[in-house]
Amino acid sequence: MLILGIESSCDETAAAVVESGALVRSSVVASQTALHEEYAGVVPEIASRAHVEQILPVIREALAQAGVGLGMIDAIAVGNRPGLIGCLLVGVAAAKALSWSLNKPLIAVDHVAAHLYSGLLVEGDAPHHPHASRHSHVFPALGLVVSGGHTSLYHLESWTMSRRLGSTIDDAIGEAFDKAAAILGLSYPGGPNIDRLARSPGANEAFHAFPISRLSPDSLDFSFSGLKTAMLYATKGVPGERGAPAPPLTEDRKRDLAASFQHAAVKAIILKLSRAIAVTPGMRTLLTGGGVTANSHLRLKLAELASHHGLELSLPAMKFCVDNAAMVAGLGYHLHAAGKVASLDLQAVPTTGMA
Ligand code: KG4
Ligand code: ZN
Repeated sequence: MLILGIESSCDETAAAVVESGALVRSSVVASQTALHEEYAGVVPEIASRAHVEQILPVIREALAQAGVGLGMIDAIAVGNRPGLIGCLLVGVAAAKALSWSLNKPLIAVDHVAAHLYSGLLVEGDAPHHPHASRHSHVFPALGLVVSGGHTSLYHLESWTMSRRLGSTIDDAIGEAFDKAAAILGLSYPGGPNIDRLARSPGANEAFHAFPISRLSPDSLDFSFSGLKTAMLYATKGVPGERGAPAPPLTEDRKRDLAASFQHAAVKAIILKLSRAIAVTPGMRTLLTGGGVTANSHLRLKLAELASHHGLELSLPAMKFCVDNAAMVAGLGYHLHAAGKVASLDLQAVPTTGMA
Protein backbone atom coordinates (compact mmCIF):
# COMPACT_ATOMS: atom_id res chain seq x y z
CA MET A 1 0.00 0.00 0.00
CA LEU A 2 1.35 3.42 -1.01
CA ILE A 3 0.47 6.41 1.16
CA LEU A 4 1.15 10.04 0.27
CA GLY A 5 1.91 12.01 3.45
CA ILE A 6 1.54 15.77 3.75
CA GLU A 7 2.95 17.93 6.57
CA SER A 8 2.68 21.71 7.00
CA SER A 9 2.22 22.29 10.75
CA CYS A 10 5.03 24.76 11.33
CA ASP A 11 7.88 25.98 9.13
CA GLU A 12 8.52 22.91 6.98
CA THR A 13 6.44 22.11 3.88
CA ALA A 14 6.79 18.36 3.37
CA ALA A 15 5.43 15.48 1.30
CA ALA A 16 6.45 11.83 1.22
CA VAL A 17 5.51 8.51 -0.31
CA VAL A 18 5.75 5.56 2.10
CA GLU A 19 5.10 1.92 1.28
CA SER A 20 3.39 -0.39 3.79
CA GLY A 21 3.95 2.05 6.64
CA ALA A 22 7.71 1.60 6.71
CA LEU A 23 9.61 1.90 3.45
CA VAL A 24 10.23 5.52 2.56
CA ARG A 25 10.07 5.81 -1.23
CA SER A 26 10.56 9.59 -1.06
CA SER A 27 10.62 12.33 1.56
CA VAL A 28 10.78 15.94 0.42
CA VAL A 29 11.10 18.80 2.91
CA ALA A 30 11.13 22.47 1.93
CA SER A 31 12.46 24.33 4.93
CA GLN A 32 11.54 27.96 5.59
CA THR A 33 14.42 28.53 8.01
CA ALA A 34 15.93 31.28 5.85
CA LEU A 35 12.62 33.21 5.86
CA HIS A 36 12.34 33.20 9.67
CA GLU A 37 16.00 33.54 10.60
CA GLU A 38 16.01 37.32 10.96
CA TYR A 39 13.14 37.09 13.50
CA ALA A 40 14.86 34.28 15.49
CA GLY A 41 11.55 32.37 15.46
CA VAL A 42 8.70 31.31 13.20
CA VAL A 43 6.40 34.15 12.03
CA PRO A 44 2.99 32.46 11.48
CA GLU A 45 1.79 34.65 8.58
CA ILE A 46 5.07 34.29 6.68
CA ALA A 47 4.95 30.54 7.29
CA SER A 48 1.37 30.11 5.99
CA ARG A 49 2.12 32.05 2.83
CA ALA A 50 5.27 30.04 2.14
CA HIS A 51 3.28 26.79 2.56
CA VAL A 52 0.80 27.96 -0.08
CA GLU A 53 3.68 28.58 -2.50
CA GLN A 54 5.50 25.33 -1.72
CA ILE A 55 2.81 22.71 -1.21
CA LEU A 56 2.13 21.70 -4.83
CA PRO A 57 5.77 21.69 -6.01
CA VAL A 58 6.73 19.65 -2.91
CA ILE A 59 3.97 17.07 -3.54
CA ARG A 60 4.95 16.80 -7.21
CA GLU A 61 8.60 16.33 -6.24
CA ALA A 62 7.74 13.60 -3.71
CA LEU A 63 5.76 11.68 -6.36
CA ALA A 64 8.54 12.14 -8.93
CA GLN A 65 11.27 10.95 -6.54
CA ALA A 66 9.17 7.90 -5.63
CA GLY A 67 8.61 7.22 -9.32
CA VAL A 68 4.84 7.01 -8.92
CA GLY A 69 1.89 8.85 -10.42
CA LEU A 70 -1.06 10.12 -8.37
CA GLY A 71 -3.14 7.21 -9.69
CA MET A 72 -0.88 4.75 -7.84
CA ILE A 73 -1.46 6.35 -4.43
CA ASP A 74 -3.81 4.34 -2.19
CA ALA A 75 -4.48 6.94 0.52
CA ILE A 76 -3.59 10.49 1.58
CA ALA A 77 -2.40 11.10 5.15
CA VAL A 78 -2.13 14.63 6.51
CA GLY A 79 -0.89 16.15 9.75
CA ASN A 80 -4.02 18.05 10.83
CA ARG A 81 -2.94 18.81 14.42
CA PRO A 82 -1.20 20.30 16.41
CA GLY A 83 0.46 23.34 14.87
CA LEU A 84 -0.04 26.87 13.62
CA ILE A 85 -3.61 26.99 12.38
CA GLY A 86 -2.92 28.91 9.15
CA CYS A 87 -0.10 26.50 8.33
CA LEU A 88 -2.11 23.33 9.09
CA LEU A 89 -4.97 24.57 6.89
CA VAL A 90 -2.74 24.57 3.79
CA GLY A 91 -1.81 20.89 4.15
CA VAL A 92 -5.33 19.88 5.13
CA ALA A 93 -6.86 21.69 2.12
CA ALA A 94 -4.36 20.05 -0.26
CA ALA A 95 -4.98 16.59 1.24
CA LYS A 96 -8.76 16.98 1.03
CA ALA A 97 -8.57 18.11 -2.60
CA LEU A 98 -6.44 15.09 -3.51
CA SER A 99 -8.60 12.67 -1.53
CA TRP A 100 -11.78 13.98 -3.19
CA SER A 101 -10.44 14.13 -6.73
CA LEU A 102 -8.72 10.70 -6.58
CA ASN A 103 -11.52 9.17 -4.53
CA LYS A 104 -8.97 7.74 -2.06
CA PRO A 105 -9.20 7.63 1.76
CA LEU A 106 -8.12 10.66 3.78
CA ILE A 107 -6.26 9.91 7.03
CA ALA A 108 -5.84 12.47 9.83
CA VAL A 109 -2.53 12.19 11.68
CA ASP A 110 -1.50 13.84 14.93
CA HIS A 111 1.94 15.40 14.43
CA VAL A 112 3.07 14.43 17.96
CA ALA A 113 2.17 10.77 17.42
CA ALA A 114 3.89 10.94 14.02
CA HIS A 115 7.15 12.03 15.69
CA LEU A 116 6.90 8.91 17.89
CA TYR A 117 6.60 6.84 14.72
CA SER A 118 9.62 8.36 12.95
CA GLY A 119 12.15 5.84 14.34
CA LEU A 120 10.33 2.98 12.60
CA LEU A 121 10.84 4.37 9.10
CA VAL A 122 13.38 2.71 6.83
CA GLU A 123 14.82 3.90 3.54
CA GLY A 124 15.44 1.87 0.41
CA ASP A 125 13.13 -0.26 -1.69
CA ALA A 126 13.77 -3.80 -0.45
CA PRO A 127 10.27 -5.30 -0.09
CA HIS A 128 11.12 -7.36 3.00
CA HIS A 129 13.47 -5.16 4.90
CA PRO A 130 14.57 -6.83 8.19
CA HIS A 131 13.32 -3.86 10.20
CA ALA A 132 9.78 -4.48 8.99
CA SER A 133 9.48 -7.24 11.61
CA ARG A 134 9.96 -4.65 14.37
CA HIS A 135 6.51 -3.26 13.61
CA SER A 136 4.63 -6.14 15.15
CA HIS A 137 6.54 -6.03 18.44
CA VAL A 138 6.42 -2.38 19.43
CA PHE A 139 3.86 -2.28 22.25
CA PRO A 140 3.48 -1.63 25.09
CA ALA A 141 5.79 1.33 24.67
CA LEU A 142 6.97 4.47 26.38
CA GLY A 143 7.07 7.52 24.12
CA LEU A 144 9.24 10.62 24.37
CA VAL A 145 8.65 13.62 22.10
CA VAL A 146 11.25 16.39 22.30
CA SER A 147 10.84 19.17 19.75
CA GLY A 148 10.58 22.92 19.32
CA GLY A 149 6.94 22.83 20.37
CA HIS A 150 6.60 19.73 22.56
CA THR A 151 8.27 17.90 25.42
CA SER A 152 6.06 15.01 26.52
CA LEU A 153 6.08 11.46 27.82
CA TYR A 154 3.47 8.87 26.82
CA HIS A 155 2.44 5.33 27.61
CA LEU A 156 1.22 3.66 24.40
CA GLU A 157 -0.74 0.43 24.11
CA SER A 158 -1.13 0.82 20.34
CA TRP A 159 -1.04 3.60 17.74
CA THR A 160 -4.61 4.47 18.68
CA MET A 161 -4.43 4.02 22.47
CA SER A 162 -2.12 6.22 24.47
CA ARG A 163 -1.99 8.15 27.72
CA ARG A 164 0.11 11.19 28.45
CA LEU A 165 2.32 10.72 31.51
CA GLY A 166 3.83 14.20 31.60
CA SER A 167 4.72 17.26 29.58
CA THR A 168 6.43 20.60 29.94
CA ILE A 169 4.78 23.15 32.21
CA ASP A 170 6.48 26.03 30.38
CA ASP A 171 9.00 25.98 27.49
CA ALA A 172 9.60 23.03 25.18
CA ILE A 173 13.18 21.73 25.24
CA GLY A 174 13.85 22.76 21.61
CA GLU A 175 12.61 26.25 22.41
CA ALA A 176 15.05 26.36 25.37
CA PHE A 177 17.90 25.25 23.06
CA ASP A 178 16.94 27.96 20.55
CA LYS A 179 16.75 30.68 23.23
CA ALA A 180 20.01 29.58 24.86
CA ALA A 181 21.65 29.74 21.45
CA ALA A 182 20.26 33.25 20.86
CA ILE A 183 21.69 34.35 24.24
CA LEU A 184 25.10 33.05 23.12
CA GLY A 185 24.71 34.92 19.82
CA LEU A 186 24.35 31.76 17.72
CA SER A 187 22.08 31.72 14.68
CA TYR A 188 18.54 30.27 14.49
CA PRO A 189 17.56 27.46 14.86
CA GLY A 190 20.07 27.23 17.66
CA GLY A 191 19.77 23.59 18.76
CA PRO A 192 22.19 22.22 16.16
CA ASN A 193 24.64 25.08 16.88
CA ILE A 194 24.68 24.39 20.63
CA ASP A 195 25.22 20.71 19.83
CA ARG A 196 28.13 21.56 17.49
CA LEU A 197 29.83 23.84 20.06
CA ALA A 198 29.31 21.29 22.84
CA ARG A 199 31.05 18.66 20.70
CA SER A 200 34.02 20.88 19.82
CA PRO A 201 37.45 20.03 21.25
CA GLY A 202 37.98 21.09 24.87
CA ALA A 203 34.28 21.69 25.61
CA ASN A 204 33.67 21.34 29.35
CA GLU A 205 30.17 20.29 30.38
CA ALA A 206 31.08 20.76 34.05
CA PHE A 207 32.03 24.43 33.45
CA HIS A 208 28.77 25.79 34.86
CA ALA A 209 26.29 23.93 37.11
CA PHE A 210 22.94 24.75 35.47
CA PRO A 211 19.78 23.86 37.41
CA ILE A 212 18.03 20.59 36.59
CA SER A 213 14.31 20.91 37.23
CA ARG A 214 12.91 18.00 39.21
CA LEU A 215 9.50 19.46 40.21
CA SER A 216 7.85 17.25 42.86
CA PRO A 217 9.57 13.89 43.62
CA ASP A 218 7.17 11.82 41.52
CA SER A 219 6.41 14.36 38.79
CA LEU A 220 6.83 13.29 35.18
CA ASP A 221 6.43 16.88 33.94
CA PHE A 222 9.26 19.01 32.60
CA SER A 223 10.24 22.65 33.08
CA PHE A 224 12.85 24.49 31.03
CA SER A 225 12.21 28.16 31.73
CA GLY A 226 14.51 28.20 34.79
CA LEU A 227 17.33 26.70 32.74
CA LYS A 228 16.85 29.37 30.07
CA THR A 229 16.99 32.18 32.68
CA ALA A 230 20.07 30.59 34.25
CA MET A 231 21.72 30.67 30.82
CA LEU A 232 20.90 34.36 30.49
CA TYR A 233 22.39 35.18 33.90
CA ALA A 234 25.48 32.99 33.40
CA THR A 235 26.16 34.74 30.08
CA LYS A 236 25.21 38.36 30.78
CA GLY A 237 25.33 38.60 34.59
CA VAL A 238 22.51 38.80 37.14
CA PRO A 239 20.47 42.02 36.71
CA GLY A 240 20.78 44.47 39.58
CA GLU A 241 23.47 42.42 41.26
CA ARG A 242 26.40 44.43 42.53
CA GLY A 243 29.92 43.16 42.08
CA ALA A 244 31.80 41.86 39.08
CA PRO A 245 29.86 41.85 35.79
CA ALA A 246 29.81 38.63 33.74
CA PRO A 247 33.23 37.93 32.19
CA PRO A 248 33.52 38.66 28.46
CA LEU A 249 31.92 36.04 26.22
CA THR A 250 35.05 34.53 24.66
CA GLU A 251 34.81 31.62 22.20
CA ASP A 252 36.01 29.24 24.96
CA ARG A 253 33.41 30.49 27.39
CA LYS A 254 30.68 30.23 24.77
CA ARG A 255 31.69 26.63 24.01
CA ASP A 256 31.73 25.67 27.71
CA LEU A 257 28.38 27.35 28.42
CA ALA A 258 26.86 25.51 25.44
CA ALA A 259 28.24 22.18 26.71
CA SER A 260 27.04 22.82 30.28
CA PHE A 261 23.58 23.87 29.07
CA GLN A 262 23.23 20.79 26.87
CA HIS A 263 24.38 18.55 29.72
CA ALA A 264 21.69 19.97 32.05
CA ALA A 265 18.90 19.88 29.43
CA VAL A 266 19.63 16.25 28.54
CA LYS A 267 19.95 15.28 32.20
CA ALA A 268 16.47 16.68 32.86
CA ILE A 269 15.03 14.49 30.08
CA ILE A 270 16.83 11.35 31.26
CA LEU A 271 15.76 11.98 34.87
CA LYS A 272 12.03 12.08 34.00
CA LEU A 273 12.35 9.20 31.58
CA SER A 274 13.97 7.08 34.32
CA ARG A 275 11.07 7.93 36.63
CA ALA A 276 8.58 6.97 33.90
CA ILE A 277 10.34 3.64 33.33
CA ALA A 278 10.15 2.95 37.08
CA VAL A 279 6.37 3.51 37.24
CA THR A 280 5.45 1.67 34.00
CA PRO A 281 7.03 -1.79 34.24
CA GLY A 282 6.77 -4.24 31.36
CA MET A 283 7.43 -1.82 28.50
CA ARG A 284 8.90 -3.32 25.34
CA THR A 285 10.01 -0.24 23.41
CA LEU A 286 11.13 3.32 23.97
CA LEU A 287 9.75 5.35 21.05
CA THR A 288 11.45 8.72 20.60
CA GLY A 289 11.11 11.57 18.14
CA GLY A 290 11.15 15.30 17.50
CA GLY A 291 13.85 17.73 16.41
CA VAL A 292 15.86 17.43 19.64
CA THR A 293 16.37 13.67 19.11
CA ALA A 294 18.98 14.90 16.60
CA ASN A 295 21.07 16.02 19.59
CA SER A 296 24.22 13.91 19.78
CA HIS A 297 24.43 13.90 23.60
CA LEU A 298 20.74 12.99 24.00
CA ARG A 299 21.08 10.15 21.45
CA LEU A 300 23.97 8.71 23.44
CA LYS A 301 22.15 8.96 26.78
CA LEU A 302 18.92 7.48 25.34
CA ALA A 303 20.86 4.49 24.03
CA GLU A 304 22.50 3.98 27.44
CA LEU A 305 19.19 4.24 29.29
CA ALA A 306 17.32 1.89 26.95
CA SER A 307 20.03 -0.74 27.08
CA HIS A 308 20.25 -0.47 30.88
CA HIS A 309 16.51 -1.18 31.18
CA GLY A 310 16.32 -3.78 28.40
CA LEU A 311 14.10 -1.59 26.22
CA GLU A 312 14.21 -1.65 22.43
CA LEU A 313 15.09 1.93 21.40
CA SER A 314 13.34 3.47 18.42
CA LEU A 315 15.45 6.52 17.58
CA PRO A 316 14.78 8.32 14.29
CA ALA A 317 17.47 8.55 11.62
CA MET A 318 18.86 12.11 11.58
CA LYS A 319 16.77 13.16 8.56
CA PHE A 320 13.54 12.03 10.25
CA CYS A 321 14.16 13.85 13.57
CA VAL A 322 12.91 17.21 12.36
CA ASP A 323 9.51 17.73 10.77
CA ASN A 324 8.88 15.55 7.72
CA ALA A 325 5.95 13.90 5.96
CA ALA A 326 7.33 10.33 5.93
CA MET A 327 6.39 9.98 9.61
CA VAL A 328 2.87 11.19 8.76
CA ALA A 329 2.48 8.69 5.90
CA GLY A 330 4.04 5.90 8.01
CA LEU A 331 1.71 6.31 10.95
CA GLY A 332 -1.17 6.93 8.53
CA TYR A 333 -0.78 3.35 7.30
CA HIS A 334 -1.46 1.94 10.80
CA LEU A 335 -4.37 4.32 11.43
CA HIS A 336 -5.91 3.27 8.10
CA ALA A 337 -5.44 -0.40 9.05
CA ALA A 338 -7.24 0.36 12.33
CA GLY A 339 -10.17 1.81 10.36
CA LYS A 340 -9.43 5.44 11.21
CA VAL A 341 -10.46 7.21 8.02
CA ALA A 342 -11.36 10.91 8.08
CA SER A 343 -14.19 12.59 6.22
CA LEU A 344 -13.90 15.63 3.96
CA ASP A 345 -15.02 17.93 6.78
CA LEU A 346 -11.74 17.23 8.60
CA GLN A 347 -10.65 20.26 10.63
CA ALA A 348 -7.20 21.68 11.33
CA VAL A 349 -6.74 21.86 15.13
CA PRO A 350 -4.02 23.85 16.94
CA THR A 351 -3.67 21.40 19.86
CA THR A 352 -2.60 17.76 20.01
CA GLY A 353 -5.15 15.00 20.47
CA MET A 354 -2.60 12.93 22.40
CA ALA A 355 -4.16 13.46 25.83
O1 KG4 B 1 10.46 18.61 15.47
P1 KG4 B 1 10.89 19.95 15.00
O2 KG4 B 1 11.43 20.07 13.59
O3 KG4 B 1 9.74 21.00 15.08
C1 KG4 B 1 8.71 20.97 16.01
O4 KG4 B 1 7.75 20.15 15.82
O5 KG4 B 1 8.82 21.74 16.97
O6 KG4 B 1 11.98 20.46 16.06
C2 KG4 B 1 12.73 21.63 15.90
C3 KG4 B 1 13.59 21.87 17.14
C4 KG4 B 1 14.27 23.22 17.18
O7 KG4 B 1 14.03 23.81 18.43
C5 KG4 B 1 15.75 22.87 16.99
O8 KG4 B 1 16.63 23.79 17.61
C6 KG4 B 1 15.82 21.52 17.66
O9 KG4 B 1 14.64 20.88 17.23
N1 KG4 B 1 17.02 20.77 17.26
C7 KG4 B 1 18.03 20.44 18.10
C8 KG4 B 1 19.01 19.77 17.32
N2 KG4 B 1 18.55 19.71 16.03
C9 KG4 B 1 17.32 20.32 16.01
N3 KG4 B 1 18.18 20.68 19.41
C10 KG4 B 1 19.31 20.23 19.99
N4 KG4 B 1 20.30 19.59 19.32
C11 KG4 B 1 20.19 19.33 18.00
N5 KG4 B 1 21.17 18.71 17.35
ZN1 ZN C 1 7.53 18.52 14.92
